[in-house]
This record gives sequence, structure tokens and C-alpha cells, in this order.
Amino acid sequence: MNVVVLLGAPGAGKGTQAPPLAARLGIPVVATGDLFRAAVRDGSQLGREARRYMDAGQLVPDEITVSLLLERLARPDAAAGVILDGFPRTAVQAKALDVALAERGASVSVAILVDVPADELVRRMSGRWICRAAGHPYHETSSPPRAAGICDVDGSELYQRADDQPTTIRARMDQQLGALAQVVEHYRASGVLRTVDGLQPIEAVSAAVGAALAGTGVAMAR
Ligand code: AP5
Ligand code: MG
Repeated sequence: MNVVVLLGAPGAGKGTQAPPLAARLGIPVVATGDLFRAAVRDGSQLGREARRYMDAGQLVPDEITVSLLLERLARPDAAAGVILDGFPRTAVQAKALDVALAERGASVSVAILVDVPADELVRRMSGRWICRAAGHPYHETSSPPRAAGICDVDGSELYQRADDQPTTIRARMDQQLGALAQVVEHYRASGVLRTVDGLQPIEAVSAAVGAALAGTGVAMAR
């Protein structure tokens, strides 16, 4: 089982890099932010609960997040492996993932940190538009869609996330960067951490992410 963890601050480019990497590896992306946004859209109890935290720029409590993730990992399409985007986000989540994988005789193959300085994160989130169907991200200036307001990949409408308002962007960075540092340390300690320079153009970051898989045992399907 190939388990690739994409780590990075809010706006670093995880959601930009995950789908093309998934296509190359032949395994699905599991993004907890996307799962929470789908739950909010459905108006479920989970969505109502998660929304309170998301709108405030805070992390959703570990208990809720871990059970959502484990449910998704148990689905048949995740049997050969997954790319995790936005999970784990705390040391508790990282440990819960290790335990769940160990039960299947597996472990995290590699954790790739997409490293981007804070001022660039704000620029990226402020200009972001994502698609309704699958959350594919675009940027007003650095990665515009071919046709205004429409997703290149699936043709769905583009919109701006509720948590991409300036005050919420600041809250997300203030509230979440400390926990990210702990997760980075967790994977540094277990020897699977790789860091890529996320300040490069999107294609160069993709190439660096691909190169970071060398020697990890994670094989490209194509
Ligand atoms: P989530 O949806 O995961 O948001 P996030 O971590 O804040 O990350 P983003 O999606 O904002 O950034 P990204 O790294 O995906 O960047 P993107 O590729 O879009 O989580 C949302 C909320 O859900 C959290 O705040 C929390 O409340 C909750 N949550 C989720 N997971 C949780 C968990 N595990 N535990 C607890 N709570 C959880 O790129 C950003 C922009 O930059 C785009 O416009 C893109 O086009 C552009 N861009 C990307 N790469 C480049 C590049 N190389 N050069 C120039 N522009 C670029
Ligand atoms: Mg994302």
C-alpha cells in the first residue's frame, strides 16, 4: 500500500499537486478539506459541526477528523494506496494514522512538505477560485482557467471558498502553522520527510514532488 502524505501550510499548493500525482500513481486523493466541504454542502450533522471550525479558520477536532478519514480509507478504492492532502494536521492525527496503517501491515511511504513563505500563502489564497464538482484549484493571476469561471478539468462552475476571506486567511495561518510544525517533526523523526521548494512554478513543483518519491518504494503507474 502506497501512502503519500502531502504536507503544507494553507495555500501551499497541496490541492494543486495532488490530482496530477494521483493520476501518475494510479491511486485516489483523499483530502479532508474536500470531505468537510462536501459535508457542509450536504447540510449533514457532520457538515454543520465542521463548518463552525472552518469558518473560524480553526482545525476541526481530531476525533471528528480521524473518524472521517478512517471511514474513507476503508473504502475499496483506497486499498492500493492514497495521497493524503490536508491530513494529518496534528500530532494526534499523525499517530492515529500510523496505528491504522500498522493494523494493515502498512506505513506512510513518504511525507512531502511543500514549503512556501507566509506572504506568498496570503497571495495564493486571496486569488484562489475552486470548482464546485471536485475542488480543482485555480488562481486569478498565476493559474487562471482557460475559460473564465469554468473548470478546465470537469467544466463545473468556479467559486471562492468562504474561508479565503482576508480575516479567515490570517486566522488559519495563526491557528494552524504550529500544529503543522509538529506533524513535520513527526515525519522527520520517522525518516520519511522530504521537502520541496513550493515557491517554484506549478510544473516545477510537480517535478520536484515526483523526484521526492525516488527511493521511497512508491512507483509511478505512468
Ligand atoms: P483544506 O481544504 O485542507 O485547506 P488548507 O490546508 O488550508 O489548504 P488549502 O486548500 O487552502 O491550500 P492548498 O495547499 O490545497 O493550496 P492550493 O493547491 O489550493 O482545509 C480547510 C479547512 O478544513 C481547515 O481550515 C480546517 O478547518 C478543516 N480541515 C481540513 N483538514 C483538516 C484536518 N486534517 N484536521 C482538522 N481540520 C481540518 O493552492 C492555493 C492557490 O495557489 C491556488 O489558487 C493555486 O492555483 C495557487 N498555486 C498553487 N501552486 C502554485 C504555484 N506553485 N505557484 C503559484 N500559484 C500556485
Ligand atoms: Mg487544498
